[in-house]
Amino acid sequence: MAVEGNQTQVRPRSFVGTAPGKVILFGEHAVVYGQPAIAVPVTDVQARATVTPLTGTDGIWLLAADLPGFTDDSMGRRYRLDDAESDDPLRVAVELALAAFGGDTVRWHGGTEPRLLITINSTIPIARGLGSGAAVATAVVRAIAGHLGQSPSPEEVSRLVYEVEKLHHGTPSGIDNTVVAYERPVYFVRGEGVTQLHAGSPFGLIIADTGKASSTRRVVGHVRSRWKADPDRHQWLFDQIGDVARQARTAIEEGDRHAIGRLMAQNHHLLVALGVSSPDLDTLVGVALEAGATGAKMSGAGWGGNIVALVEPRVTSDVADALSDAGATRIISTTVG
Ligand code: MEV
Repeated sequence: MAVEGNQTQVRPRSFVGTAPGKVILFGEHAVVYGQPAIAVPVTDVQARATVTPLTGTDGIWLLAADLPGFTDDSMGRRYRLDDAESDDPLRVAVELALAAFGGDTVRWHGGTEPRLLITINSTIPIARGLGSGAAVATAVVRAIAGHLGQSPSPEEVSRLVYEVEKLHHGTPSGIDNTVVAYERPVYFVRGEGVTQLHAGSPFGLIIADTGKASSTRRVVGHVRSRWKADPDRHQWLFDQIGDVARQARTAIEEGDRHAIGRLMAQNHHLLVALGVSSPDLDTLVGVALEAGATGAKMSGAGWGGNIVALVEPRVTSDVADALSDAGATRIISTTVG
């Protein structure tokens, strides 16, 4: 149905938006303080939002069945957008997308408010450093844009999702929304835009879950308070991590997998020194290396979540088996490039 006096075309049928997960290969935490970081999309896991026009029910309804804990209010139930807290991430994603792609006129199409059901499904583990929050918001933004007949650029989507990311933790660097919206490996420096990264030769990754959830907000807050208490030491650590990420960019572009692996080990040790690893993460990193991985490190905020290991095809199943035996609750095997 067309909106009178406006170019927006509201689609009468369901529209689906999707987004991948992500894993940070280099530079987490230091990226919040202006250092470069490298992240890649993980397409083996996905968030999906479906916008379905409703008849006979007023307002916008959200159904986030398999997102327990996404917000305290939305534990797998169907709820009305207007009844959610004003800082509910799903509500904010929907409202930002409606404002960006529909304008105020959407509120008045056919003389009524939009009547929609937005169903969210995701196979991305929550609070494990795999970008679940950014991916869900990206899927929602894309589904609403599609419903309104728009095809926003990755940059536009990323900009909106960044606003939602601020609700998850106050000072996001922007790397999660960027890699998820661009769906490409990225070399990212906060405030400097995004450089897409091209791997000189493909390489395999194994992502292994400790099974422990971790709050990015808490870990990032902890690092901030330690940085304030001892700025010189932390600035030194951030600078070192930045150097590793810069070298890793060259190694990835040149397809030098041994250098990538060595740099992953260096990055992990710097994150240990920063106080964001955990015994479980350290154990899985050690197990991956022992089983033949070329490199391994924790990934994301830390204190739980996932490790990422660089693997050659001939050792992939050995490394995966060893990680499972050591207690990893989920293994994702993926290829970059
Ligand atoms: C979280 O995926 C990565 C962190 O560096 C935080 C951020 O970049 O906003 C820990």
